[in-house]
Amino acid sequence: MKAAQLNAYNKNNLNLNIVDVPRPEPKDKQVLVKVLTAGVNPLDNMITRGEVKMIVPYKTPLTAGNEVVGLVEKIGTGVSQFAVGDRVFGRLPLDSIGAFAEYVAVDAVALAKVPDYLTDEEAAGVPLTALTIMQAFGLMDAEAGKTLFISGGTGGVGAMAIPLAKAKGLTVITNGDIRNRDRVLALGVDQFLDYKTQDYTKILSNVDYVLDTLGGTETEKQMAIMKKGGQMVSLRAMPNGAFAKRMKLPKWKQILFTLVGRQFDKMADKYGVHYHFIFVESNGQQLQEVADIFTKLEIKPSIDTVYPFDEVNAALDKVANGRSRGKTVLSMKG
Ligand SMILES: NC(=O)c1ccc[n+]([C@@H]2O[C@H](COP(=O)([O-])OP(=O)(O)OC[C@H]3O[C@@H](n4cnc5c(N)ncnc54)[C@H](OP(=O)(O)O)[C@@H]3O)[C@@H](O)[C@H]2O)c1
Repeated sequence: MKAAQLNAYNKNNLNLNIVDVPRPEPKDKQVLVKVLTAGVNPLDNMITRGEVKMIVPYKTPLTAGNEVVGLVEKIGTGVSQFAVGDRVFGRLPLDSIGAFAEYVAVDAVALAKVPDYLTDEEAAGVPLTALTIMQAFGLMDAEAGKTLFISGGTGGVGAMAIPLAKAKGLTVITNGDIRNRDRVLALGVDQFLDYKTQDYTKILSNVDYVLDTLGGTETEKQMAIMKKGGQMVSLRAMPNGAFAKRMKLPKWKQILFTLVGRQFDKMADKYGVHYHFIFVESNGQQLQEVADIFTKLEIKPSIDTVYPFDEVNAALDKVANGRSRGKTVLSMKG
């Protein structure tokens, strides 16, 4: 079968190689998925650049791709929740990614059934981002009626975070690219700020929760708009000791992340808020909850561009270069 592989970590060249590899066999408690579409994420490029090596030390050659939509082709022993032909989706387990291929063997517990109303392309925009949001809400202990600020909510994460946050009863404020203003307002955003002309630190205050998709100097600016006791979940700043412990990383990495994340823990203390870092994990049960919410509300993820499998490098380049209007998707069909 064809698979898009990373041969060696590379900071400058994000290209993958399309190669022929043996079709995997599902092990116990796994299913073999015939891939229809796969979401393309900034995470795919971060893996190539070696930026997540300390969290997940992938060995090369590595078949890339973190989230999948496909049809169950074959079932391993001990799997009862899926049947051959089911249309499933999932964020692949951290230690066994590989969605950019014709087939992938996946732990059944990582998968959920795709709601019928979503196309294969739309479904590819759901698992990774929706699970990130669900896991972030868990860390925030998010309650209805409170206010959430999502920085950079005009991209793939925002497209999912906004409807899920609205479904949870939160008031949602976001900033981002002005060209996406109408689209995010249609998703239910209560207040939109143009990040190039409006300074949210001068406009917002007393925010209960922050989903930081930007990191860098933006993280502290976002802490400054929060209520005392508020909860920030960052997708981009630094992992800290609490994160390493939660992820059950080895002791030496827990010590290391405690040191590197200390500046953010100290910053959070200064503003009287709580700082969490997240690295999204697979979870079929949580994804099924998302699928149920989506089915009820008929939420459609925003899709930016769909690329054929052969153009995987163009898709990765698109994700690397910003100007996102939603999800970039790879299609294995036809
Ligand atoms: N830790 C995790 O588990 C996890 C999970 C999912 C995603 N992530 C991370 O989350 C980040 C966002 O992902 P995404 O898929 O939403 O990215 P994306 O699709 O590229 O969207 C980013 C959006 O933010 C806008 N933006 C850029 N700079 C901004 C600024 N200073 N202020 C406000 N908005 C700004 C961009 O507008 P322009 O078009 O003008 O650039 C774009 O609309 C990525 O870095 C990704 O790696 C992490």
